[in-house]
Amino acid sequence: MRERERERERKREGVQESRLSLIKAIITRDTRNLSEIKSPTFRKALRAIYFLINFFRYARYFKPSFICLTHINIQITTRCTLNCKDCNSLMPYYSKFSRHWDVNVDELLKNINNLLNGLDAIMAVSVLGGEVFLFSEPELCRLLEGLKSYGKIVKIHLLTNGTLIPSKSIVSHLRDPKIEVRISDYGKLSSKKDELVSFLSENKISHFVVPYCTDGWIEFGNLTKRGRSRDELQRLSSKCISFMRCNPIVGNRFYSCSLASNMTDLGLKPDERDDFIELVDKPKIMRANIKKFLSMDCIPSCDFCDFALGKKTKAAVQREPY
Ligand SMILES: C[S@@+](CC[C@H](N)C(=O)[O-])C[C@H]1O[C@@H](n2cnc3c(N)ncnc32)[C@H](O)[C@@H]1O
Ligand code: SF4
Repeated sequence: MRERERERERKREGVQESRLSLIKAIITRDTRNLSEIKSPTFRKALRAIYFLINFFRYARYFKPSFICLTHINIQITTRCTLNCKDCNSLMPYYSKFSRHWDVNVDELLKNINNLLNGLDAIMAVSVLGGEVFLFSEPELCRLLEGLKSYGKIVKIHLLTNGTLIPSKSIVSHLRDPKIEVRISDYGKLSSKKDELVSFLSENKISHFVVPYCTDGWIEFGNLTKRGRSRDELQRLSSKCISFMRCNPIVGNRFYSCSLASNMTDLGLKPDERDDFIELVDKPKIMRANIKKFLSMDCIPSCDFCDFALGKKTKAAVQREPY
């Protein structure tokens, strides 16, 4: 029993970022671009001023009822340039069932706004697909501007598979201390990775290459009901690197796992009320919903996959189109 309590505690720690690391991230965020200032004295003075401004701006994060989420995902398209067999966003299934969609940016921003009204900060928002650079570029820029304008969002990550180069017009929207482009390195499949890295470096856009070709992925197995007991589901979810780590928004629903949201969206499993919380236009209800979300120790969808078992597999193995 104690072991389970400890596991739950660890899970909560993973979901809710500690205040100190949050404040450190915010304070250093605005000071990073000072490296371009030549005079060391001037740079030091500006750094100290920024530090103080940020410190007082974010002092409210010490309030006792403070809620901060580590990470949320926003999926903007189901279209992709690759067709990965083990894609944990189930993109190949969208082709199989001809169910592709692109998100409506106004609706998405409204739902994010509702979520933010119920909490104090989100450490990182990942914008992903499918492949983000297949999404309408003007709409992507509009979304990025919307996300940047929220003071409660600390970092924005844009995830790409390194197969496409965006146009020059996106540069001013990506060059921002809040934004980092994350390029998944799938070896030869990420055919434009080097070109993309040069493009981002030349345009002084923060970026990072994730070495999936060496690190590998996790297998989720077939998507059928296993019939595990609730105890077993709780035990497994406490080890799962997807549950409470990716937290996708789909429509006005906030899920704790992208396999759960996409399995439901595709109709591969029953739509269950306990898999998600609703994003509503009422801050008090929203805050109560988020507290409920943070207390989830497993969801019905955990019974439909083996991600928690952590079995490693090669990343981005391609499958035949359905
Ligand atoms: C679904 S992808 C979408 C973004 C982009 N298309 C890409 O591949 O980077 C989001 C992230 O999940 C990772 N991912 C996908 N399937 C995975 C799996 N089975 N195990 C671990 N990570 C996975 C990808 O490498 C990527 O970093
Ligand atoms: S590149 Fe692969 S992992 Fe990324 S969304 Fe496309 S199919 Fe999924």
